[in-house]
Amino acid sequence: MSKEKIDKNRLPKHIAIIMDGNGRWAKEKGKFRIFGHQNGVKAVREVSEGCAELGVECLTLYAFSTENWNRPKIEVNALMTLLVKTIKGETDTLMKNGIKLDAIGDRSTLPVDCLRELDEAMEATKDNTRMTLILALSYSAKWDIVNATRIIAQKAASGEISIDEVNEDLINKTLTTHKYPHPELMIRTSGELRISNFLLWEIAYSELYFTTVLWPDYRKEHLYEAILDFQSRERRFGKTSEQLA
Ligand code: IPE
Ligand code: IPE
Ligand code: MG
Repeated sequence: MSKEKIDKNRLPKHIAIIMDGNGRWAKEKGKFRIFGHQNGVKAVREVSEGCAELGVECLTLYAFSTENWNRPKIEVNALMTLLVKTIKGETDTLMKNGIKLDAIGDRSTLPVDCLRELDEAMEATKDNTRMTLILALSYSAKWDIVNATRIIAQKAASGEISIDEVNEDLINKTLTTHKYPHPELMIRTSGELRISNFLLWEIAYSELYFTTVLWPDYRKEHLYEAILDFQSRERRFGKTSEQLA
């Protein structure tokens, strides 16, 4: 089994996943798209548990993008309902696994019941320390960057900071992702080879891993394969191999 081959001392601290392929999974089975989303919940449970068991510190899951608001209303509503139900239903599992829940994205666009469940689950799990599960909800990297730029511009305009103080560190601190290290590994399922506006700033030096597995079929074993692949890579950060040796 691939789990045993993983070097626990070289785990990515933070893994980000673009959970894609729910619609195609359902279509293959002659079902409605929402059936695929419903069946994606099991995969969320699997990777959360898998990461926590290994000792990965943070897991960010792309659950709903800014662009996903443009889907048919019926699908958006069904996704929001599923989200509310899942957050409520999974809080016990999060507690059992010592997982703290957090969220990134544009809260102002989320329905009130969704925000309520989210806040309740975040409050209930806030003292858990084994792992943090970060849900990207109504999130897009460009939204976050624009949001951060506004905050920084406001501070500069009011004289709270000078232009010289605008640097990489300040931008890091102002993004909604500021509490966590940047992901070392980003995984996308379903065979699409794109980033779809996810964590653009934060993945500047992430290792990217693509698999054709559709999200509802994603299991711990697939996660282990991705981590093993990550551990086989040489991360040079602009240097030469010789310098790293
Ligand atoms: C990912 O699955 C889930 C969300 C984007 C919310 P999709 O719904 O994008 O499934 P495909 O890509 O159409 O198969
Ligand atoms: C990206 O998937 C967003 C999430 C997984 C939440 P999409 O299925 O929306 O991405 P595109 O539009 O096909 O690139
Ligand atoms: Mg998709």
